[in-house]
Amino acid sequence: MSNSEQKSESKQTVFILGGTGTTGTSIVNGLLESGKYHVILGVRSASLSKPAILKLQERGVEIRSVELSDSPEKLDAVLQGVDTVIFATSSAEVDKQPRWADAAKRVGVKRFIPDDWAIPCERGTMKKYDQKAAIHDYIKSIGLGYTFIDVGVWTAFSLPADTDTSQGMFPPSISHIISGSGDIKSATTHIPDIGKFVAEILSDPRTLNQYVFCWGEEKTQNELWEIARRVKLELTGEPLKVTPKYESEAHVVERAKNAEDGTFAQVGAEYLLSLYAKGNNIVEKAKRPEFGGALDARELYPHLKVTTVEEVARTLYKPTAQA
Ligand SMILES: NC(=O)c1ccc[n+]([C@@H]2O[C@H](COP(=O)([O-])OP(=O)(O)OC[C@H]3O[C@@H](n4cnc5c(N)ncnc54)[C@H](OP(=O)(O)O)[C@@H]3O)[C@@H](O)[C@H]2O)c1
Repeated sequence: MSNSEQKSESKQTVFILGGTGTTGTSIVNGLLESGKYHVILGVRSASLSKPAILKLQERGVEIRSVELSDSPEKLDAVLQGVDTVIFATSSAEVDKQPRWADAAKRVGVKRFIPDDWAIPCERGTMKKYDQKAAIHDYIKSIGLGYTFIDVGVWTAFSLPADTDTSQGMFPPSISHIISGSGDIKSATTHIPDIGKFVAEILSDPRTLNQYVFCWGEEKTQNELWEIARRVKLELTGEPLKVTPKYESEAHVVERAKNAEDGTFAQVGAEYLLSLYAKGNNIVEKAKRPEFGGALDARELYPHLKVTTVEEVARTLYKPTAQA
């Protein structure tokens, strides 16, 4: 056995589904950079030959071919030797998780981290949240070890995109909507910081069977626009091209009600309500029992340097190479 094999055997083995997505890439990077984990990606056959997969193999990631809907026997086989399972697939696949939780329980996985990675919420506010909360209930009901992780809103999603190429609730237009007064705080996390938090959480016994809220800064929409305007002007000498579209809470409620079930328009409107009407996306609420009683990742890991909104704005609004 080679030295590198011996080393990787003593590391916690983490199996990730969705490891090439936005959240998944951050998690994989965080785990690899920490040097503490043996990382395995579950990849569907259609994606096995993607360049991203080959690059990850070069970085020491093990690839196991599997479909989310494979047989229980196949799922058991693919999870052999795994300590921790992380789901970071697109949210359309959330309902596929119970079969994976069953397999994880059968083969002795110690911790299952389902596909959350979003905002704290109370039940009955957002259909997407309720769908994810039902998965929490299932994991608890079968006695599988877990950690539930939310990260607020990605900072790059919270700042206004300085381009206007779509309409309604689709990006980037949704980032131009100021709901109500614009003075409600909302937690943001820079995407690359997600994986840094996860690398801490997975080695921390305090987080087993707990809900953890990861966040960088809390800002109101008015504060985010102020940062965007100032940074764009400072970096380019020009004002933002876009202006806020003010929308009343009643109007957003109407949008949510009229949107077809499960569509992005509905998810978008319910997010706006939860974020900026109810003010749910703050650490103080995440800690409340009715929100799941979160542990605050900033309190757990005070040494971890998080990226500020200002720093993200400086990368978002910097002049492009052609300009
Ligand atoms: N906090 C926020 O601001 C925020 C924003 C957006 C999303 N989210 C949440 O973050 C979570 C992850 O979303 P994301 O946007 O990061 O994901 P994403 O970028 O859409 O990535 C999806 C990943 O899932 C894989 N995948 C998709 N369908 C699959 C299938 N049928 N079988 C196997 N693999 C499949 C993709 O792999 P392939 O290479 O095979 O396609 C890819 O690796 C979701 O729960 C979402 O709600 C949060």
